[in-house]
Amino acid sequence: MNLSGKTEVYGIVGYPVKHSLSPVFQNALFEHFSLDAVYVPFEVKPDSFKEAFLGLKALGVKGVNITVPFKERAFELCDLSDEPSKVIRAVNTVKFTDRIEGYNTDWIGFLRALRELEKELEGKKVLVLGAGGTAKAVVYALSQEECYTYIFNRTYERAIELARNFSAQVVKRPEDVLDDADIIINTTSVGLSDDDPPLFDYQMLRDHHIVFDVIYRSTPLVKTALKKGAKAQNGLSMLIYQGMESFRIWTGLEAPVSVAINSLSDYVLS
Ligand code: ATR
Repeated sequence: MNLSGKTEVYGIVGYPVKHSLSPVFQNALFEHFSLDAVYVPFEVKPDSFKEAFLGLKALGVKGVNITVPFKERAFELCDLSDEPSKVIRAVNTVKFTDRIEGYNTDWIGFLRALRELEKELEGKKVLVLGAGGTAKAVVYALSQEECYTYIFNRTYERAIELARNFSAQVVKRPEDVLDDADIIINTTSVGLSDDDPPLFDYQMLRDHHIVFDVIYRSTPLVKTALKKGAKAQNGLSMLIYQGMESFRIWTGLEAPVSVAINSLSDYVLS
């Protein structure tokens, strides 16, 4: 890496952010195109977020990804934002020009990743587990594809709130709609550790199911689905696709997905 006075700075803002894989593959994309640019992690304490975020613009940083827990607060601080982020009310991509431009690429990253498992999404019945920030982008994407969406969440009221905004249906237990569902998507943090109590009895999965977990490791949900003959995938491809779309917004360049995947080969979690 050759840094100079002209090197453009990009990064990711989150808390925590030390384990983020985005710097690994975003720098690989810059290198692939021989761009004089670097992508760095910015770990920001929640009570300093506004100061830090506005400071990035003042410092001449060109663009950042925004991750947990700042996506909603970043949206509020943008001067303009794209249509999806206005609906989702959160941004994960910011471009600093003379103004602060906000974008949401989580939903498109999710859709591209899901389409690797199932091309035809219209009319599919989808069970979404969770009703947090990630679930909002996922449910937005599913509404764009005209899927029929069920939402299950530990905190019922949050599921009601999300379902109301996207004409989805809330379920009290995943088991209630499991047989009927074509696609099951985990957006919760359950599965980050193998010891997490499961969201439902994963032995109920069948080979007709398509399972997508936004966590980018092989969770018990994904492992059991594969054992049952279902199609299943973890969230690594969603992470890559959302990042490639951010890269396109910043640079106008379409990066080959293989460059991102190869750069992560030493980092993929089992
Ligand atoms: P993110 O932006 O990553 O989606 P979030 O907005 O904090 O993060 O949402 C986390 C989601 O995981 C929520 O749906 C949360 O359920 P609650 O709304 O009930 O908090 C879900 N979640 C986290 N830990 C969970 C657990 N142990 N069991 C079930 N759901 C859990």
